[in-house]
Amino acid sequence: MAGLVVQLQGHLQDHLLPAHFNASGLATTVTAMLSSLLVLGSCAVQAVVGRPDATPHVRREGAVLKRSVDSFIQTETPIAWNKLLCNIGPSGCAASGAASGAVIASPSKSSPDYWYAWTRDAALVLTGIVDSFAHNYSSTLQTTIQNYITAQAKLQGITNPSGSLTNGAGLGEPKFMVGLTQFTGEWGRPQRDGPPLRAIAMIRYARWLVENGYKATAKDVVWPVIKNDLAYTAQYWSETGFDLWEEVPGNSFFTVAASHRALVEGAYLAAQLGTECRACITTAPHVLCYQQSFWNSGGYIVSNLNGGSGRSGKDANSILTSIHTFDPAVGCDATTFQPCSDKALSNLKLYVDSFRSTYAINAGIPQGQAIAVGRYSEDVYYSGNPWYLANFAVAEQLYDALYVWKKESSITVTATSLAFFKDLVPSITAGTYTPSSSTYQTILTAVAAYADGFMDVADARIPASGAIAEQYDRNNGSPLSAADLTWSYAAFLSAADRRAGIVPAGWAAENGKTLPATCSRSAQVAGTYSLAATPVFPAGQTENPSAGPAPSPFPSGCLAASEVYVTFNEKATTEWGQNVKVVGSVPQLGSWNVANAVPLSAVGYTSSNPTWSITVPLTAGTTVAYKYVKVNADGSVVWESDPNRSLVVTAAAAATSTAVTCGQVGGACAAQTVNDTWR
Ligand SMILES: *[C@@H]1O[C@H](CO)[C@@H](O)[C@H](O)[C@H]1NC(C)=O
Ligand SMILES: *[C@@H]1O[C@H](CO)[C@@H](O)[C@H](O)[C@H]1NC(C)=O
Ligand SMILES: *[C@@H]1O[C@H](CO)[C@@H](O)[C@H](O)[C@H]1NC(C)=O
Repeated sequence: MAGLVVQLQGHLQDHLLPAHFNASGLATTVTAMLSSLLVLGSCAVQAVVGRPDATPHVRREGAVLKRSVDSFIQTETPIAWNKLLCNIGPSGCAASGAASGAVIASPSKSSPDYWYAWTRDAALVLTGIVDSFAHNYSSTLQTTIQNYITAQAKLQGITNPSGSLTNGAGLGEPKFMVGLTQFTGEWGRPQRDGPPLRAIAMIRYARWLVENGYKATAKDVVWPVIKNDLAYTAQYWSETGFDLWEEVPGNSFFTVAASHRALVEGAYLAAQLGTECRACITTAPHVLCYQQSFWNSGGYIVSNLNGGSGRSGKDANSILTSIHTFDPAVGCDATTFQPCSDKALSNLKLYVDSFRSTYAINAGIPQGQAIAVGRYSEDVYYSGNPWYLANFAVAEQLYDALYVWKKESSITVTATSLAFFKDLVPSITAGTYTPSSSTYQTILTAVAAYADGFMDVADARIPASGAIAEQYDRNNGSPLSAADLTWSYAAFLSAADRRAGIVPAGWAAENGKTLPATCSRSAQVAGTYSLAATPVFPAGQTENPSAGPAPSPFPSGCLAASEVYVTFNEKATTEWGQNVKVVGSVPQLGSWNVANAVPLSAVGYTSSNPTWSITVPLTAGTTVAYKYVKVNADGSVVWESDPNRSLVVTAAAAATSTAVTCGQVGGACAAQTVNDTWR
């Protein structure tokens, strides 16, 4: 029965979509297929074997629920670890044929075909692995991490349909073949969350190396790989691209937040290593600023801007953002959207509520009780179902919040978060509650039960084998779409850890939670990119607690400034598909080779003020010749007319602020602007 269902769905899906529903224009086709899929769905009711302790639709209360989740976690944890590692090459039991360090999204090769290495999925999985590894040293996991980094160093250099490493554009490619070669099919590209997420995963490991006395390895082996991804992030963070679900071209909250975290933590690591990421320092505050604009005064995050019309914006995108930018050291800070912040809790409520009447399996479950949740309520992929990782993410956000409240012995209920709390503790009013008040304990108990409920709802749809697919059916709860989704296992494991009070080290959010006085979405700094040498990790770099505390984050001897941040503004009216680039006499401007020209950004372009711009770090005191070019969609180039333009990079301006030369986020570099008009 189950086999037949899978086969039939496979047949339909083959006509429907490739993996990870990628083309935004196909919604109509999908809607047309909905009724057939619904019929198949109801056919599968009895096909799913429930875990013995997990009967769907039975509400477990209080201690019974807790015991049920305790038992789920105990049983599922070894299965999830085993299955997760099975999906990583070269020796994973389900990844035969995948290259060393390649993380496959799922072993499923058809209906859907997820037999690829996605940059995002892999990075999220690896961040979880490094967090676990840092908590509990394992030489096996260390090898997995090192293989991953080696594979990423190679992938960075692979020219692909998004571009190449020359100007960084190729780093935005969403997925590769499992043998680490380019994927040339049509896809929603670029996806700009890949580079920052990958940087975050590698920074985690680099920081572990520093803390255990292996700073040279962090600096010489890992940093050259991280550096390319940070350069990409500083250059392209505000450009549009496809969201994490690969459907919406626009600006995604998740992508912007991941970019911010990578830049802040990247600046911190650079300072620890005695080097710098100046572009991280100057762009990060503007990224945080832009992140704020996704907030809707109705009390939730609109997950996609400049795209995603026809959707409310309530999306697991924002829940995943909150858990992946959790830093226990900054408490309930709302600017960085921490899990216990009032904004993140209000958003969680409205996101969850958007599924209450969407899925048949949620019918009859009252407000304030956990339900099945998915990506977003308008979803049509596989007819739109709950996702296991979404349930785990909601639970994880709540476990994170509980961790911070207990650590700080304080819970603040604001006008913004009041509705969230009222669902769980109806009599509550705004205020701050400490252990001296009985309400404090009432909140902790209610939130813990609510969080456990989301684990329990997922558990009820996991078969006895413990295998976790991508989705479960909105009508009957049976597993759907890709089997053994690597990300599902990682999402379960991190939620289970947070429930046990095991939280990751922070990401230095303290240094990056202040908004600048003025915000600019066009604060984008052109990077320089170079292929990292194949990483070689010295043997025997095991856990070394005697290494002593990590060096002071910001070095006392600040670095000398020799660069001036030159912003090129070029007024040039362009046609759709045309890009403007700057090329000139110095290596930073491509040494007159138009193939290496620096792309300008159209983020500030309007019909009344058609300005393209980019900031390029240039050496103080040099004289630079340059010109702009228009590059057509077919790659042909139109040059500006003669003569060449000339610019003297002001040496005097190089006396920069101490914050920048000392590596602190929020500094401003010596700056110079040129305003040009196409000729
Ligand atoms: C640490 O990992 C090992 C396996 O490598 C496991 O057996 C052990 O239970 C873990 N310890 C903790 C405290 O998580
Ligand atoms: C502009 O610079 C290029 C490269 O140095 C040179 O070949 C070209 O002759 C210059 N154009 C003019 C009009 O001087
Ligand atoms: C360039 O234009 C900006 C915005 O119009 C202006 O603020 C700035 O002073 C100009 N800079 C130069 C060097 O002309």
